[in-house]
Amino acid sequence: MNTPTNIATIETLQSGPLEEGGWLANKRVFIRVDFNVPLDKSSGAITDDSRIQAALPTIEFAIKAGAKVIVASHLGRPKGKRDDKLSLEVCGARLAELTGLEVHVPEDCIGDAPKKVIHDLRVASPGSQIRGGPQICLLENLRFHPEEKQDDEAFARSLGVLCDVYVNDAFGAMHRAHTSVHALPMLKADRGAGFLVQKELQALSKLVEAPGKPYLAVLGGVKVTDKIEVIEALFGRCDTICIGGAMANTFLAAQGHDMQKSLVEEDKLALARTLIDKARDAGVDLLLPTDVVVGEGLEATSAQTVGVAAVPTGTMALDIGPATIERFAKALSGAKTVFWNGPMGLFESEPFARGTVEVALAMGKASGFTVVGGGDSAAAVRQAGSEVAAAFDHISTGGGASLQFVEGKRLPGIEALRHRTLDDDRR
Ligand code: 3PG
Ligand code: MG
Repeated sequence: MNTPTNIATIETLQSGPLEEGGWLANKRVFIRVDFNVPLDKSSGAITDDSRIQAALPTIEFAIKAGAKVIVASHLGRPKGKRDDKLSLEVCGARLAELTGLEVHVPEDCIGDAPKKVIHDLRVASPGSQIRGGPQICLLENLRFHPEEKQDDEAFARSLGVLCDVYVNDAFGAMHRAHTSVHALPMLKADRGAGFLVQKELQALSKLVEAPGKPYLAVLGGVKVTDKIEVIEALFGRCDTICIGGAMANTFLAAQGHDMQKSLVEEDKLALARTLIDKARDAGVDLLLPTDVVVGEGLEATSAQTVGVAAVPTGTMALDIGPATIERFAKALSGAKTVFWNGPMGLFESEPFARGTVEVALAMGKASGFTVVGGGDSAAAVRQAGSEVAAAFDHISTGGGASLQFVEGKRLPGIEALRHRTLDDDRR
């Protein structure tokens, strides 16, 4: 695996000091995962369990190694206090179904409750059948404590007393310098990356280190603000950038088009103009929509395709139009490397889903190395069908994390695995 050489992996941890072998047996192994899954607003049920599925290889490896497995995650943004709607119970139930193992979720992630559960955990004897016997402890939502987001050493020590070994498999949270991602691993000499993190690093590294050219990026989503840094970083790397989604409206308005009721960031028009100029100076082809699908509002059930210069009064652009799809698809077919983040329109609404789905289909057919990152775009790829999803080289579980990686930024979670321990530094 293409894991940075100074980072241990769960496999190297398992081999331990040479004479030991099976180092994880009976160790308390803390596995930070990203179970921040989308939940149905009314029922609270998980609507897409990909992130749970993606963490299974690491969890099952540790179980088979005979470890006491402690799984930990955040879910949503509970503002530092308990919020029953964001309890990890629902993920615990799903994890139990997927592994066939008993999963215990103590009421808090630190203190006596998890200590007792972990003390009593049954482990597998290495090599034996894992179904039925061993148990998993899934800690309650780390963000029920405000200190989780503060990279807090005392909170790290409260989590640290629960475990001997630290494994990070939470790729989607690697860009957060939060306690369980950053301060906690730095306390543990035995720390490393899980299989998902290794897989993500291996695929995403190809976008950063000598990507095949032409390199094309497709960016969508609502706000230009969220994507400024990635757009600028990609000017130095990409040959073509296709822009869709509501953020394209701001660029189109900056070019003088009257976008009517469309979402436009009025305070970002000057910035959009600057980005258009910078693209030209950098020799990057910035492809904006030439036609759009409009509706009367976000709840619209009927749609109309119009040129970007002729958006009718009282309507808003909610998807890219067929001519734009064709233009993007043509660019995609010739690309050697493709990175996609952000939907092309309001794809959760049927009349405005076509742009996103067609872009997914075109990417599925493209012969280049194709990567999609971000919850919405990954969901759109799955919506386009399992064959389309299978045709992608990599579907990242990270949104912000994959963007920052592709920008060439260092991710705090990876740096923490590299770093010497806090206690080492004090010696
Ligand atoms: C994500 O879904 O992007 C990650 O789980 C990180 O969550 P956050 O954006 O709330 O920090
Ligand atoms: Mg996010």
